[in-house]
Amino acid sequence: MKAAVIHELGTEEAFHYEDVEDPQAGPRQVLVRIKAASINRGDLGRREGSYRGVTAAAKLPLILGWDVSGVIESVGEEVRDRRVGQKVVATLASGGYAELAAVSARGTVPFPDTLSFEEAASVPIVFLTSWFALLKVAGLQEGETALVHSAGSGVGMAGIQIAKYAGARVITTSSSGDKLDRARELGADDGVNYRQEDVLDRVMALTEGGGVNVALDGVGGENLAASIASLAPLGRLVTVGNTSESPTTIDSGLLFQKTLTVHGFTLAGQMVRGGVMPELARIMDLFGEGKFRAIVDRVFPLRQASEAHRYVSEGGQFGKVVLRP
Ligand SMILES: NC(=O)c1ccc[n+]([C@@H]2O[C@H](COP(=O)([O-])OP(=O)(O)OC[C@H]3O[C@@H](n4cnc5c(N)ncnc54)[C@H](OP(=O)(O)O)[C@@H]3O)[C@@H](O)[C@H]2O)c1
Repeated sequence: MKAAVIHELGTEEAFHYEDVEDPQAGPRQVLVRIKAASINRGDLGRREGSYRGVTAAAKLPLILGWDVSGVIESVGEEVRDRRVGQKVVATLASGGYAELAAVSARGTVPFPDTLSFEEAASVPIVFLTSWFALLKVAGLQEGETALVHSAGSGVGMAGIQIAKYAGARVITTSSSGDKLDRARELGADDGVNYRQEDVLDRVMALTEGGGVNVALDGVGGENLAASIASLAPLGRLVTVGNTSESPTTIDSGLLFQKTLTVHGFTLAGQMVRGGVMPELARIMDLFGEGKFRAIVDRVFPLRQASEAHRYVSEGGQFGKVVLRP
């Protein structure tokens, strides 16, 4: 099969589109003919060697790709609940930037016909991250207010929809008015342009000085400090990433005076704890019911993985960028 392979960690030029041996499905695995693979921000860090997450210690040569969609080509002898020809999404430790992947049958979920392969591949990692962070970790409740940063990011785009689904008021942030308009179409109630306005001042004005109950922050740095300062008493922050690649100073006085909770969350850590795939099945059901929309900003051919990574790192996208083998 063809794959985008990394032999040496580094810049976007690290990808080599080349022939590699076809994977073989083990007894509890299925072989998936990949139709689309999504790019996640963590892929950029793994490509350069700066990623510190659970799946950081990948061996070279490395094929990136945590979530894909495709068609099951064969099933292992112990697999009972998947069949050849079935359309599924799959989560992987790596190996999605390729034409085929052998994955645990348990790591696959069928998806509704209303989604294209590109749309389906764009869902698992970012929707699961925001789903767990907002609903399971922060315990966002109906009637509360959520601050969901980076409307244009995969996690932000998903988080806005999930917080609305939970019945919350949603304030989001973005680098442009166009992206904030698109966020409002997805259900965001208010938008803050962080290039033009002070996020903390604006969030406090929008909440009449009260602050938000939950903040979902993948930006880090000064943004994380603003997220904490914007919390109402008993507020919960979930930090899921550091797109800004900056350190943060936390004012501990704010934490105890307002009885705040700061959670760190990674989906990889949740995979170790378990219980992820039933939630993905639930999310896919909600797509089938029309509750959520998949937003694919751009599709690149797999052979252009370098160009796709460069595009993602520039930060102009709204939603997901997907590779098509
Ligand atoms: N913990 C987990 O399990 C988990 C899982 C997935 C992702 N993450 C993390 O969550 C964050 C978002 O991930 P993603 O895959 O959704 O990201 P992404 O789609 O690549 O996000 C890109 C967007 O981030 C925003 N952004 C904010 N600051 C930026 C900066 N300094 N440079 C470039 N873009 C910036 C921009 O949106 P605006 O213009 O709207 O601001 C941009 O469009 C990342 O930190 C990622 O590592 C964590």
